[in-house]
Amino acid sequence: RPRVLSGIQPTADSFHLGNYLGAVRYWVTLQDTHDAFYCVVDLHAITAGHDPRVLRRRTRIAAAQLLAVGLDPERCTLFVQSQVPEHPQLAWVLSCLTGFGEASRMTQFKDKSTRQGADRASVGLFTYPILQAADILLYQADAVPVGEDQRQHLELTRDLAQRFNGLFGRTFTVPAPHIVKDTAKITDLQDPTAKMSKSASSPAGIIDLLEDPARSAKKIRSAVTDTGREIIFDQANKPGIANLLTIYSALADRTVDDLVETYAGKGYGDLKKDLAEVVREFVGPVQERTRTYLDDPAQLDKLLTIGAEKARAVAAATLRTTYDRVGFVAPR
Ligand code: TYM
Repeated sequence: RPRVLSGIQPTADSFHLGNYLGAVRYWVTLQDTHDAFYCVVDLHAITAGHDPRVLRRRTRIAAAQLLAVGLDPERCTLFVQSQVPEHPQLAWVLSCLTGFGEASRMTQFKDKSTRQGADRASVGLFTYPILQAADILLYQADAVPVGEDQRQHLELTRDLAQRFNGLFGRTFTVPAPHIVKDTAKITDLQDPTAKMSKSASSPAGIIDLLEDPARSAKKIRSAVTDTGREIIFDQANKPGIANLLTIYSALADRTVDDLVETYAGKGYGDLKKDLAEVVREFVGPVQERTRTYLDDPAQLDKLLTIGAEKARAVAAATLRTTYDRVGFVAPR
């Protein structure tokens, strides 16, 4: 079976709809067709300052939420990145193959470091995409299910894999992005041209999976739309309505055309009201299952430990080969 790997940062108390619809939803379906590795990337979550207690809580919440939306430890390998030390080990080797200018061109680094102030941004934030490349290459992943915002990082990953293979002999699978166009960029409810983002959106612009659905309903009601009244899918001229239709379509598993037909002659208010209901129905069971997993943190930790052991078996083999190709003397 082909392999997939993907990761998510535990940098908020909940995933938002962008994370779910852009990426995590596909993680669930790919379990059936692929040998799937998914990790909560806690090493990536300390690049911009953090509180240890909050990080530990959010790491468990992230894992519980992934299980709650349908990851099944029997059918995939779910683990926490910091429990597999091969990730930073491979990242070091890859960082020695990455040009300083090449890393400087990463737009996510440029955006985040600008927001933090160039002098305050950490070296970890700078090398972040190299660690991400290590996450992927260690598992010889064929595909990486992510949202559009990760495309550039995947390009770098592919470049590094090819560069290493060219220099030291074929070692890494060159991974392809698995980006599903329709849901690749869920936008901010208050600014429908910007992506919904944990770090950049205002709370009113984000729908969190774990928030009170009444709060989500309120946010949907005040979502920014255009002054027209017709409900059609027009990304360029009606980005707000297009976003609501995209979310609706994905959550209710109905085509956008079907929705447009249903709402012909109806108003934005009707669409928003029904979407709020669709969100409520979706998040209800997810919230309940998340709570159940969080109620037993010892069991959750154990499950993650087993995941890390499975992941490590694969990661260690790749790292051994890599070290050998690089010319490191192996211990005997
Ligand atoms: P992160 O934690 O920011 O986001 C997790 C996933 O959600 C997707 N996403 C979106 N998709 C559509 N619309 C949006 N508004 C939206 N916002 C977020 C992201 O594209 C991502 O797929 N660098 C990664 C984490 C990572 C990783 C990896 C991913 C670390 N190592 C290895 C893949 C493979 C990140 O910050 O994702």
